[in-house]
Amino acid sequence: MSINNEILNCIHERRSTRRFTDKQISSEQLDALLDAAIWAPSGGNSQSWLFTAIQKREVLLHLNELVREGFQHWIPDDDYPGKQAIKEHSQKEGYNFYREAPTLIIASNRPNYENAMADCAMALQNIFLAAQSLGLGSCYNNQLHWLRDDPGVRAYLLELGIPKEHTICSSASIGFIGAESTAPIRKEGTIHIIR
Ligand SMILES: Cc1cc2nc3c(=O)[nH]c(=O)nc-3n(C[C@H](O)[C@H](O)[C@H](O)COP(=O)(O)O)c2cc1C
Repeated sequence: MSINNEILNCIHERRSTRRFTDKQISSEQLDALLDAAIWAPSGGNSQSWLFTAIQKREVLLHLNELVREGFQHWIPDDDYPGKQAIKEHSQKEGYNFYREAPTLIIASNRPNYENAMADCAMALQNIFLAAQSLGLGSCYNNQLHWLRDDPGVRAYLLELGIPKEHTICSSASIGFIGAESTAPIRKEGTIHIIR
């Protein structure tokens, strides 16, 4: 790239982190990430999202157990790569859907809103880039989205304050980087310019 600036560098350097250290992020860092989330664009300026940050280890571990239970009777409904493998992997000893990150941010949104996923994805990318700028690692997790209608998972998310009518869009693992990830090569032929 011939043009260089802090944001472009941040975009290039961000990676999905899949191993974190145990060290918790600071309150200031969490505030900055959540603030970055709510400044994302949203369809019709809806801002109907909810970002629920969990930093309590017992809560995260319990949620992980419910995810493992949920996967037992979950049937992958399309051929998204890896769904079946993740379902099987989830039953193995030591499976942890949030990669044992010390902080998990769950993005949910109001129901029957066609931009629910798009708005939350915009916000999550803000979180990821903000995390990168603060020297933190992050990773997108699909599992809570896949299990959004699982009764056990939903009952617990309701207990945690996520409205029962909300759709669960995604979650983000956040923490200090325990192992660096390598950058996947960019595929050819994904840019088309008409001048
Ligand atoms: C919609 C979406 C879903 C994803 N789901 C997961 C996931 O469930 N678990 C995971 O480890 N990574 C997940 N990722 C991260 C991708 O695997 C990752 O972005 C991709 O391999 C490229 O690597 P990079 O983020 O380091 O550039 C997801 C990313 C997106 C955009």
